[in-house]
Amino acid sequence: MLYFSQKMYLIFVTIITLSLSIIIYQIYLIQIDTRLYHPAKPIILWWTPFGNDEKLRDCGNYQCYFTSNRSFQYHKQIKSFLFYGSSFQIDDLPKWKSDEIPWGLLHEESPRNNPILLQQKTLNLFTYSSTFSRFSDVPLTLIDLPGITELLSKKYFVSTKEKIKLLRERNLAPLLYIQSDCDTASNRDMYVAELMKYIRVDSYGTCLNNAQLDKRLKENYLEILNNEDFLSFIANYKFTIAFENAVCDDYITEKLWRPLTVGSIPIYYGSPSFKDWLPNNMSAISVFDFKDPVNLANFLHNLSNNEIEYNKYLSHKLIDNYEIENERLKEVLERRKERSNEFGNYVEEFECFVCTNIYQPKKSKIVDEKHYNCPLPKNPLTNKIDHLNWWTNQWIFGKCGATLLSYHLQNNLTINKENFEKDKMKLYETNKC
Ligand SMILES: *[C@@H]1O[C@H](CO)[C@@H](O)[C@H](O)[C@H]1NC(C)=O
Ligand SMILES: *[C@@H]1O[C@H](CO)[C@@H](O)[C@H](O)[C@H]1NC(C)=O
Ligand SMILES: *[C@@H]1O[C@H](CO)[C@@H](O)[C@H](O)[C@H]1NC(C)=O
Ligand SMILES: *[C@@H]1O[C@H](CO)[C@@H](O)[C@H](O)[C@H]1NC(C)=O
Repeated sequence: MLYFSQKMYLIFVTIITLSLSIIIYQIYLIQIDTRLYHPAKPIILWWTPFGNDEKLRDCGNYQCYFTSNRSFQYHKQIKSFLFYGSSFQIDDLPKWKSDEIPWGLLHEESPRNNPILLQQKTLNLFTYSSTFSRFSDVPLTLIDLPGITELLSKKYFVSTKEKIKLLRERNLAPLLYIQSDCDTASNRDMYVAELMKYIRVDSYGTCLNNAQLDKRLKENYLEILNNEDFLSFIANYKFTIAFENAVCDDYITEKLWRPLTVGSIPIYYGSPSFKDWLPNNMSAISVFDFKDPVNLANFLHNLSNNEIEYNKYLSHKLIDNYEIENERLKEVLERRKERSNEFGNYVEEFECFVCTNIYQPKKSKIVDEKHYNCPLPKNPLTNKIDHLNWWTNQWIFGKCGATLLSYHLQNNLTINKENFEKDKMKLYETNKC
């Protein structure tokens, strides 16, 4: 009896041990699968850490290993180097072998934080791109626009009658301006300062300040830009000045979308083609449509005093079951409904775009100016190139830098920052950019 039960016990223990080993082995395999690199899979290296790190990712039918560990740069499976624009540094780049190891650029920002990037010769170094431009491989154009629900929602909406009442009772101006970044490539303050001579603007930021936020809103207002109190505050205004810090095709930020979604009519200056993304062509007012600030101010006075005309700009709030007329916008927003509109999702989409291209190269193409189109800064009042604007020179130096960078990479030369700057100035002085 005893003997039998001991035997049973042994069998039992053996079965348990075996099962446990199998389970542990399975877990180990899963670990390998999701984390460790696989010697036969393509390696994609984030040159400066940004996206996935030490991860074997599935991209449809393909798999690639993503890492930011630079020891992989000489690995025989290395297939692409990816860069986040703001961290792209000319004196910290991998060896240039464009045919074997194409580069990818991810950059949602305007060129102000890295002016060398917007140059044709720099862009040509890249094969894949994810930028604000609709022409890039994974466009980030509408990343700051929350979605259809927010666009149509009346959560913050203040009716025109109520706005008129507020204007009178709280002595609000018809226009709102809030900026604390006053030195910009677009030179927006130059335009706003002129506009303020002809129509009242409440300006709460440090730029052209003439009004004070109440204490609660003021405390750290950058952090509360999407805070409910702040959105309700904007919604009180008939118009909101929405001027970008740079004028680039498709560079459209929350400056446009925030007033649009709360129901204050945006007065926009920035991407010349921004109307391509509006719900309809009366969803915002474009500075480009007016000869000068005087004309714009007259138009706004007029609109402000005509409730029927004013309301035509708010059809996305006022018409029940409003249908977005702009097919281009509608399509992007519909497609995006399936997943949340987070930056991380776009980064992952870009990673998979690159991975898929390694297995199934599409027609070979190179990133060009259309993927990051920011012409030389103009004076917003004269619409002429402004050589007095400090940013204009940054653009021009950037061009010299790009010429030099491309030369160094193609000739396999090491870049020393100090010498590079000197050579750049030489090119500039001899007009050879
Ligand atoms: C980078 O990868 C190498 C080779 O696989 C490894 O030895 C090293 O520990 C890694 N470094 C980091 C910081 O993970
Ligand atoms: C307004 O939108 C319609 C299509 O909805 C288009 O045909 C028309 O050209 C647009 N008008 C302007 C001034 O952009
Ligand atoms: C102001 O409105 C009137 C009537 O709608 C119109 O005739 C006039 O052209 C408008 N003026 C401006 C500057 O828009
Ligand atoms: C580039 O320089 C490296 C040494 O830094 C050298 O091994 C390699 O052969 C050079 N390639 C070309 C194309 O000159």
